[in-house]
Amino acid sequence: MKHFLTLADLTAAEAAQLLARAKELKALQKQGIPHATLQGKTLGMIFDKSSTRTRVSFEVGMFQLGGHALFLHSNVTQLGRGEPVADSARVLSRMVDGITIRTYAHSTLEEFARHATVPVINALTDLTHPCQILADLLTLLEHHGAVQDKTVCWIGDGNNMLHSWMNGAAIFGYRLRYACPEGYLPDARLLAAAQAQGGDISGYATPAEAVCGADVVTTDVWASMGQEDEQQQRMRDFAGFQVDSALMSGAAQNALFMHCLPAHRGEEVSSEVIDGPQSVVWDEAENRLHAQKALLELLLGNNG
Ligand code: CP
Ligand code: NVA
Repeated sequence: MKHFLTLADLTAAEAAQLLARAKELKALQKQGIPHATLQGKTLGMIFDKSSTRTRVSFEVGMFQLGGHALFLHSNVTQLGRGEPVADSARVLSRMVDGITIRTYAHSTLEEFARHATVPVINALTDLTHPCQILADLLTLLEHHGAVQDKTVCWIGDGNNMLHSWMNGAAIFGYRLRYACPEGYLPDARLLAAAQAQGGDISGYATPAEAVCGADVVTTDVWASMGQEDEQQQRMRDFAGFQVDSALMSGAAQNALFMHCLPAHRGEEVSSEVIDGPQSVVWDEAENRLHAQKALLELLLGNNG
């Protein structure tokens, strides 16, 4: 039994195989060829936060693989009324074959995983969002033919998305450059661990320096879920960190623009960029489905 709490839970071989299988699964689905590899399996999906893409991609993904998914928002389970995380993990493990969790503290996810006896998947915490990176790398592979040795540039908040880009750098072999405003840098320990693992990661003072020659330029909202009260302050602090056409012109000529979505046009990205020809955000969103189906097979399949 294996959990997927961060990208560091994958070996480089598993990571490469996962992207290859995601491409295959996408082709099968597009051609209408059945691929019910998880027949009879059930996925429990615990959500403490809102979601569109993550919920739908896991739920549809399980259906397409011949299994079933249950949406368990904490508003309507005993978890939301204070039943201990450990007890919920033990109970759900007796009934389902895998569990995804979207929650606030990463330690809640880790505690759940310690007590679960089925694979647990991180569907986003305040610290990381690894499933999104799988979809983003599948998108990069489709558009640029490779992930290895590509340069990914992150502009904006040192948040869960940037942390996951950091965690994936060594395993997938891309270079990562980032520029974050003062006071919004990524977690120093996570950065040091990702670099110690072999990740080629460097921070820059300004977006213009970080973006230079990049193959992918990516960003995210300035205030993540749970930080809504900081929105006004962050709007001031992030001035100059919008991804707009002028910034994109410093990246490679065929650079892709990525965003995990939901996006705020006119804040972290201009409409011209997100709705423009370099943007691959809709492919990224669709690829959540295909990448997670490969992940589900890896963790819940009979070989998992
Ligand atoms: N990108 C992403 O995780 O979207 P949702 O919050 O809609 O799941
Ligand atoms: N950083 C964002 C990602 C949403 C998918 C958040 O945590 O709200």
